Amino acid sequence: MSSQSLPRSLTGITTTGTPHLGNYVGAIRPSIEDSLSDATDSFYFLADYHGLIKCDEPERVHQSTLEIAATWLALGLDIERATFYRQSDVPEIPELTWILGCVCAKGLMNRAHAYKAAVQDNEKAGDDPDHEITMGLFSYPVLMAADILMFNATHVPVGKDQSQHIEMARDMAQRFNHRYGEIFTLPEAVIDESAAVLPGLDGRKMSKSYDNTIGLWLNEKKLRKAIMRIVTNSKEPGEPKGTDESALYPIYAPFVSPDERQVFADDLAAGLAWGEAKQRVFERINEVLAPARERYAQLIEHPAEVEAALAAGAVKARDEAAPLMAAVRRAVGIRSLA
Ligand code: TRP
Repeated sequence: MSSQSLPRSLTGITTTGTPHLGNYVGAIRPSIEDSLSDATDSFYFLADYHGLIKCDEPERVHQSTLEIAATWLALGLDIERATFYRQSDVPEIPELTWILGCVCAKGLMNRAHAYKAAVQDNEKAGDDPDHEITMGLFSYPVLMAADILMFNATHVPVGKDQSQHIEMARDMAQRFNHRYGEIFTLPEAVIDESAAVLPGLDGRKMSKSYDNTIGLWLNEKKLRKAIMRIVTNSKEPGEPKGTDESALYPIYAPFVSPDERQVFADDLAAGLAWGEAKQRVFERINEVLAPARERYAQLIEHPAEVEAALAAGAVKARDEAAPLMAAVRRAVGIRSLA
């Protein structure tokens, strides 16, 4: 699908860590639903170069790339329709990163939230402001701009914390276009305010940094155990319970129909015991995830299948990236002398 009249949506997933239920409900599931629509041309990629900024353990970067790719495939991403690839398979991206770096003001990067937070942490700790800050972290918004501009993305679905990076990508695109001619499309951030934010075991947002996650692919036994650890209060069986008294209801809700939600809420109000409530939550979530979990396990056992899917995606991605990169090179004066 090369039609530029369709909105083109593009988003990257950094390859550190293992997917949890919060990632699934908040980002993966809605993206996969979008990928099934004819109304958008979707690009999804594994941001493994971004992974290197946060993680210097080669095994983890590698394993996480496999797990995340297998997750999206197991959950039914339509890779015929969408373009699904690995960032590092598209050498045009780091090439464009350099060229964008030459139009990007350093002052713009000084204002990036992630960099500023790292400087602040250093200052608080009484360290040199640049302590342990790499050029990768500092110039990360340039790599992200290249990810986006390389494919003329019009829409970039991201979390709120990323919206500054989309503004920066627009800024770089504008400066480039102004200096060298109209090459890049200006992207827009799409921040889904209604996106489900799943609470974790302790009721705070489910996040790796809070250590309160429930893994998406836990086996049945471990999933049950994790759900049993969701924090509840000390109300006895028979006592009425509200849906807001524990993370249990909000964790359950996105996995079931509105009718089922209502039944659960009514049963809690009628005094359902926490233990039984947890058992019910476990059974339903387990039922919803089991078929994909089976496919996931298959893919993890056959990484060559995952690799083949990514290789096919890379061909599609490079078909788009190569001509644009050639135009960029010509525009800046890097071209054959003959
Ligand atoms: N930085 C994004 C994150 O941490 C991931 C990402 C990398 C991305 N490149 C992108 C998202 C391009 C959207 C577009 O979530």
